[in-house]
Amino acid sequence: MSDNNVVVEAWNTILFDKFVRFKHLLIAGLAGYSDALFARNLYPQGARVLDVGCGFGDSTLRIANTVGPSGQAVGVDCAKNFIHAAEQEAKAAGTTNATFFVADVQNEDLRGPYDHVFARFGTMFFMLPGAAMRNIRKALKPGGTFTQVVWRKREENPWLYEAEQRVKQIVPVVSHEDSNEVHCGPGPFSMAGPDMVSSMLKAAGFEGITFERFDTEICIGRNLEDAVEFAMALGPAGEIMRLAGDEGQRLKPQVVTALREVLSRYVREDGVWGPSSAWFVTARNPVRSN
Ligand SMILES: C[S@@+](CC[C@H](N)C(=O)[O-])C[C@H]1O[C@@H](n2cnc3c(N)ncnc32)[C@H](O)[C@@H]1O
Repeated sequence: MSDNNVVVEAWNTILFDKFVRFKHLLIAGLAGYSDALFARNLYPQGARVLDVGCGFGDSTLRIANTVGPSGQAVGVDCAKNFIHAAEQEAKAAGTTNATFFVADVQNEDLRGPYDHVFARFGTMFFMLPGAAMRNIRKALKPGGTFTQVVWRKREENPWLYEAEQRVKQIVPVVSHEDSNEVHCGPGPFSMAGPDMVSSMLKAAGFEGITFERFDTEICIGRNLEDAVEFAMALGPAGEIMRLAGDEGQRLKPQVVTALREVLSRYVREDGVWGPSSAWFVTARNPVRSN
């Protein structure tokens, strides 16, 4: 399998299954970020907007409502299982101006032109991020905007980082290179550095690049057990557990104890809420673009 087939396979299988299992946390948690952006009226009635790495498509449906019947929201994802789930959600919601298609954003036709492109945590897993940024820009109309939400640095997302650090102390780390397992690609913090990301966007032909820090607390479990299961399944800690295979399973009791300790500090009456921090990155396709 080529590097990217490995990534697509991971999102279609193991990661899709985990996202379904923790959908109750993921959709509500990540919507905290997109809701803050959508409240700014980014997308006027009649606009055609692409949602990159749309997952279950909840953000695509929100955009469809915003742009109204004269507009269109289009969700793209490399994993056909996510696209199928998103189509089912749109049907159940009776949304007729949202469509979805399967494509690798790095190098496949994105069915432009779009007035705007949006991505909520959908751009951090590209093996070739520069190629993906260029492809996205080419799908935009001249003057069109690209708004992405990406995680800021690990240390500002302690519910992920502290869990990773503790699991690393217990479970031997197996790198993707030393494993035959499929994997998610570069990972959630690959777009955390503004210098690198702004250079990449500039090289892809974007202008007017800005970064806005946005912090919020997100629900990482209905209770402590839920939060521990979530940490062991997804994010960097979950990846260490998965790649460690049988050894990870053998060490699970110690991992559970450690994660309970780490995550207990975020327990509130209404669940477990971790501090989190992301960038809202915006960029514009120049009016005179090619
Ligand atoms: C962390 S999930 C975010 C999903 C959704 N935007 C959300 O906020 O719930 C990342 C998504 O990017 C998709 N993805 C990863 N690499 C991709 C690629 N090369 N082309 C298109 N989609 C990709 C994955 O399948 C997955 O649905």
